[in-house]
Amino acid sequence: MQKVAIVGAGRVGETTAQILAEQETCREVVLIDIREDAPQGVALDIAQTAPLFRFDTRVTGSNDPAAMAGADLVVITAGVPRKPGMSRSDVLEVNVKVIDGIVDDVLRYAPEAVIIMVTNPVDVLTWRAWTRTGWPRARVLGQAGVLDASRMAAFIAMETGFSVRDITTIVLGGHGDAMVPVARFCTVNGVPVSHFLEEDRLEEIVQRTRDGGAEILSLRKISSAYDAPGAAVAEMVDAIARNRRRLLPCVAILEGEYGERDIAMGVPCVLDRSGLTYIVDLGLNAQEQAAFAASAAGVRADIERLPPLPGG
Ligand code: 2OP
Repeated sequence: MQKVAIVGAGRVGETTAQILAEQETCREVVLIDIREDAPQGVALDIAQTAPLFRFDTRVTGSNDPAAMAGADLVVITAGVPRKPGMSRSDVLEVNVKVIDGIVDDVLRYAPEAVIIMVTNPVDVLTWRAWTRTGWPRARVLGQAGVLDASRMAAFIAMETGFSVRDITTIVLGGHGDAMVPVARFCTVNGVPVSHFLEEDRLEEIVQRTRDGGAEILSLRKISSAYDAPGAAVAEMVDAIARNRRRLLPCVAILEGEYGERDIAMGVPCVLDRSGLTYIVDLGLNAQEQAAFAASAAGVRADIERLPPLPGG
């Protein structure tokens, strides 16, 4: 991949840029932010790690959205994060205004790109980006499930003592309090995790995963999480840039999958160079499906709060 644009040079954007550069996922990363000098400073700082990490990826910063021209992929992290005590939905009104402007910039300057939405509430804003662009759903995705699944895997590793390398987890649904960690599909090298953990311990891990973002926020106090979110975005970018056909939980537009349509939510997605190739149906049991539907109801309630699109 040639060029990735990251809109929003805050902590998540910066962490994503650093990882993409270190891993030479693409030839060029441009950070774009409206704050004067901020993206240039972040980019210069990262560029000065190049001799240490030995990467050739060029990292630049700009206040001009035109700098995203020619980007193959645009990551959107701009907007305000929630503060302690707030839910992700509480920042919807503010962030939709930010996102609308950025999506219009993408339409203008990078009309062939794949979009990865990161700004919260991510499901709703992925939906917004898709409706505003009118693009095929393959090119409008959101990041949530890779982060939530990584959190769950980290918790299982802490609890069982197994290497994280052997732990596979999957988290579906909306990126909110009602997200759906699917313990039945979590394994330690293929062995169901229930073989190693009592039901109540597993349920505690499920709940800690749901609260994962809030736990970090309550500890950091002045910042939401950004190390794991940045790494999760980089994982999605890598899957797309290197055409890997990875199966990752991502926010995608649903057209009947999991019994839902006219909504964006976390589902197992196969990613390749084109973005989303298809959504995998896991065959949820009745309890899992009910949890997914409950999570969908929350996302849908927020979608109904969106202001109308221009002309729509
Ligand atoms: C998180 O879960 C901020 O939504 C992000 O940490």
